[in-house]
Amino acid sequence: MPRINNGKYPPGPLGLPFIGVLLRVWRDPLHFFVDVYRKYGELIHFKIGPQHIYFINHPDSIKHVLQDNHSNYRRRTSDRKFESILGPILGQGLLVSEGELWRRQRRLIQPAFHPQRIASLSSKITTPTIAMLESWRAIAGRGEQIDIAEEMMHLSLRIVGQTLFNVDISDDKEAINRAMGIGLEIFNRHVQRMGIRLPLRFPSSEKRRYQQVHQTLDKAVYRIIAEHRRHGPTNDLLSSLMQARDKETGEGIGERQLRDEVMNLMIAGYETIGPTLAWIWYLLASHPDVERRLHAELASVLGGRVPTFDDLPNLPYTRMVIEETLRLYSPGWFIFRTVVRDDEIGGYTIPAKSIVLISPYVLGRQNVYWENPERFNPERFSPSQTAERPRFAYIPFGIGPRACVGASFALMELQLILAQVGQAFRPKLVAGHPIEIQTLFTLRPRHGILVTLHERHRKAA
Ligand code: HEM
Repeated sequence: MPRINNGKYPPGPLGLPFIGVLLRVWRDPLHFFVDVYRKYGELIHFKIGPQHIYFINHPDSIKHVLQDNHSNYRRRTSDRKFESILGPILGQGLLVSEGELWRRQRRLIQPAFHPQRIASLSSKITTPTIAMLESWRAIAGRGEQIDIAEEMMHLSLRIVGQTLFNVDISDDKEAINRAMGIGLEIFNRHVQRMGIRLPLRFPSSEKRRYQQVHQTLDKAVYRIIAEHRRHGPTNDLLSSLMQARDKETGEGIGERQLRDEVMNLMIAGYETIGPTLAWIWYLLASHPDVERRLHAELASVLGGRVPTFDDLPNLPYTRMVIEETLRLYSPGWFIFRTVVRDDEIGGYTIPAKSIVLISPYVLGRQNVYWENPERFNPERFSPSQTAERPRFAYIPFGIGPRACVGASFALMELQLILAQVGQAFRPKLVAGHPIEIQTLFTLRPRHGILVTLHERHRKAA
């Protein structure tokens, strides 16, 4: 392909010799990306070390990369350091696999997230939530403070175990969550150094910690598989994975691939839902007008009873609260791809091996689509306002063939939990507790979210 624009780069920050913009990304990635978008616009170029990065912010270019020309954009990078840290934990699971393996596994896994199938899972979401609410009653009675972010991580882990694998992982939830927190921090430090060819080694203490994370997660995943085998097959996702046979060879999924898929689904299924719920409680507690409207909807539709899948279409405001939270704190805050062959975007050549970055977090803060974007206002997701926006200006679950396989399941889970907890308790923020985003692979609240719990109606569960 001939070079367009004489091989010139789109506008963007120059950064420092050798390291490019590394220090700015390192210090505060979210501010960096929002700042460069505000300064340079829809197509931005910068370097981190020798790695060229194209940061795209226009819905048409995003559609081009993720949907229309998706086969020219790989999920994996060619960075050995990045791959060496991701590889041992995620292996060849759905989040990271490519080509024929990805296609086969996606075909196998996708039916488990079909709307009819997920409808049957709603009681596996509401039952662990009822158990959590029971334990909260004692805490509320004593007037104690709790970290609601941690509670949400534990709840979403239990739900992943029940819904996808039909296994109770309550006993492992703290160990898994702690290991994930440490693992993500180490992983993040490495992503931020991505592309640097200086002799930056994995310090041995960090390596040891990472190995411990790996062992803890492996142990949990193998326990899930063993427990599932003990119970025998049911109609859960893990059973379908175990029973699936290749159409041509008749072979089943190997042990290693099974481990990888369980690990990928466990991580993708809880490390997203947990932080989203945490931010929902934070936003509701700091916006009493929105909270009141939510309570009114819950009272009129549910009147204190436990929600079911069939109630969800009648809870539109509950859904709008979730959508607005995902605009501001999308756990998948960046999506990246490696360019396979030279391509053209916005009149510029995007060379092979470059990285293309797309950020749902930055898209959610663009003044062109969102008036006063920092304001939390679920009304933005009313049908009339949604119809006025370009479809690809809001993509918390990505788009195209590699979009989130669990999107409908995630929305159902969030809506059921919000409806249940919202009827039973009002979490109030503890004054003076710092709220800060920790930019990991997802967006966790760095210091948790400390609240006191205030019971609403005894009947609501
Ligand atoms: C609020 C919740 C969630 C959000 C915001 C979210 C977001 C995303 C995003 C942005 C991607 C990557 C899209 C891309 O690279 O183009 C993704 C992929 C994925 N998500 Fe989710 N996700 C959520 C919940 C879940 C849940 C509950 C599950 C499973 C139980 C799940 C499983 C996956 C998997 C397996 C992939 C990889 C799909 C593939 O590459 O074929 N996610 N998700």
